Amino acid sequence: MISRDEVLANLGRYNWKAARIGVVASHSSLDTCDGAVSEGFRTLAVCQKGREKTFERYFRAQRAADDRIVRGVVDDTLVLERYDMILESQNQEHLMRTDTLWVPNRSFTSYCSIDAIENDFKVPMVGSRNLLRSEERGGPRDYYWILERAGLPHPKKVEKPEDIDDLTMIKVHHHVKKLERGFFTAKDYEQYRQKSEELIKQGVLDEDFEQHARMEQYIIGPVFNLDFFYNPLEDKGEKIELLGVDWRFESSLDGYVRLTAEQQIGLEKDGIIPEYTVCGHNSATLRESLLDKAFGLAEKYVKATQEYYSPGIIGPFCLQTCVDKDLDFYIYDVAPRIGGGTNVHMSVGHPYGNTLWRQDMSTGRRLAKMVREAIEQDRLDEVVT
Ligand SMILES: Nc1ncnc2c1ncn2[C@@H]1O[C@H](COP(=O)(O)OP(=O)(O)O)[C@@H](O)[C@H]1O
Ligand SMILES: [Mg+2]
Repeated sequence: MISRDEVLANLGRYNWKAARIGVVASHSSLDTCDGAVSEGFRTLAVCQKGREKTFERYFRAQRAADDRIVRGVVDDTLVLERYDMILESQNQEHLMRTDTLWVPNRSFTSYCSIDAIENDFKVPMVGSRNLLRSEERGGPRDYYWILERAGLPHPKKVEKPEDIDDLTMIKVHHHVKKLERGFFTAKDYEQYRQKSEELIKQGVLDEDFEQHARMEQYIIGPVFNLDFFYNPLEDKGEKIELLGVDWRFESSLDGYVRLTAEQQIGLEKDGIIPEYTVCGHNSATLRESLLDKAFGLAEKYVKATQEYYSPGIIGPFCLQTCVDKDLDFYIYDVAPRIGGGTNVHMSVGHPYGNTLWRQDMSTGRRLAKMVREAIEQDRLDEVVT
């Protein structure tokens, strides 16, 4: 891991007053850029060739003579052959020479290796560099490990396929669509074998998928992504904020559940089972009595990261939960960075964020507001790793 001192030395060479926000142009980057321009920053979107038009053309910023933004949110783009070329030293130098503060999102950590992000990426990053690895399932100190340590509720782990005796979710990467899911569910070992054999035949699963699979209790209930924020700079009020709640549109699952039961059974018999490929988000609120519990989850998570992943979480993080029939939360995934669902509060905010801040407060804006305050208070080193 690159030392924090080295990153802070790089930050020391920045002209803080001229700082801009940079991001991999994908995932939640429009929310990040929208928030950044709202807080008076210029923005850089690092695009991959062939995927640049959204950023370079359609959300391109136009500014008036006095620098006021009149259209769009992306001031500059850097178009690379591949996203991971941002790691090349001349590109890192370019980011630092142009006083770019980097916001890590899931596309950054998916297209660039975590090893490289930890060891070779020297650009000051807003958020918690060391926690990014915890999102990779199966590592020694992954988010499940943190949840255990923190005493946070999560779906019970099923150790081996033979143990499956209740509805179980088997989590594994898609064999062909490498960044997507090859998830399936099974209620017993027999079903597990049938389904996995069929999915191997279809090319969804690797032959040796079992070695990388996580099996856990399937929680029957709605899915809520809790979009939290931790502001280490706060010294009067609470450092933890709930900015929003979202949930996902997933294909083919969402189409599947709109069929009749008979059609679903027919599809399943033909080996056509729902996939969980994210293709959009929606906004939600929680029944109010659940909020106490939600804040309790965030408190424990923050505390555990401070204990085991010093300096702990900084800025946005997302607890991905299901709520069961007894109104208990189960955390099945944790994003130690801006969540992809924050696009739903882009520009308009969210009922919780807006209620807290008395103005439109998206996650992107909240991030930029923290950076702005850190610059004004000369405390940027506290939010950068
Ligand atoms: N234990 C679980 N019980 C029920 N549904 C789950 C469970 N874990 C995940 N899911 C469903 O699968 C989707 C993706 O799960 P997740 O673990 O977040 O994968 P990824 O990190 O690849 O996005 C969730 O949006 C949710 O719908
Ligand atoms: Mg997830």
